[in-house]
Amino acid sequence: MLIYLIIIIIAYLLGNISTSYIVAKKLAGVDIRTQGSGNAGSTNVLRTLGKKAGALTFIGDVLKGLIAVLIARLIAYGVHMDQSICAYFAVVAVVLGHNYPAFLGFKGGKGVATSLGSMLGMNPLVALMCLGFFIIIVAITKYVSLGSILGIGLSPIIMLINHNTKGVLVALFLTISVAITHKENIKRLLNGTERKIGEKKN
Ligand code: G3P
Repeated sequence: MLIYLIIIIIAYLLGNISTSYIVAKKLAGVDIRTQGSGNAGSTNVLRTLGKKAGALTFIGDVLKGLIAVLIARLIAYGVHMDQSICAYFAVVAVVLGHNYPAFLGFKGGKGVATSLGSMLGMNPLVALMCLGFFIIIVAITKYVSLGSILGIGLSPIIMLINHNTKGVLVALFLTISVAITHKENIKRLLNGTERKIGEKKN
């Protein structure tokens, strides 16, 4: 139990490291949560500060998700525990840490890049398939939010096909979490006012 708690705390704290917040503060001296869509994520950094800053944010958020899961696996390996179970705890905690960071007043991002990174550490093949699907959806529709929702939403289906019961639960958590953080995007998608990639207006 103590090991699970340690893994959860480490992953949650890693999730609190908001790449978008740091990048926007360092490059432009602004709180990204007061700019554009108000989201602390790479799409909003791209929209507000450009491609380089957006890419940097995306990589940072993917990496922290991946690192959280790799640390969990390393700990599990060290104490001879089930690596997959420990990885699942880390996935949930790092995404919650990103979306609801205690150190930033619980106002974080939407958890897409961090979910992808943690999924890479959990099951790289599933993560790459979701990323591929995300890219296809964004390329066709130009809606990052729709790509994010459908991309992450593909993960429980793949887990189910692979008969990975515990993986399905974690993937369902990620899907529900992304749906919750994108509820405003979903409303805008439905009424046709969602921003397309590259669009700057609110
Ligand atoms: O990853 C977040 C993206 O799916 C939507 O971001 O800023 O357009 O709400 P945003």
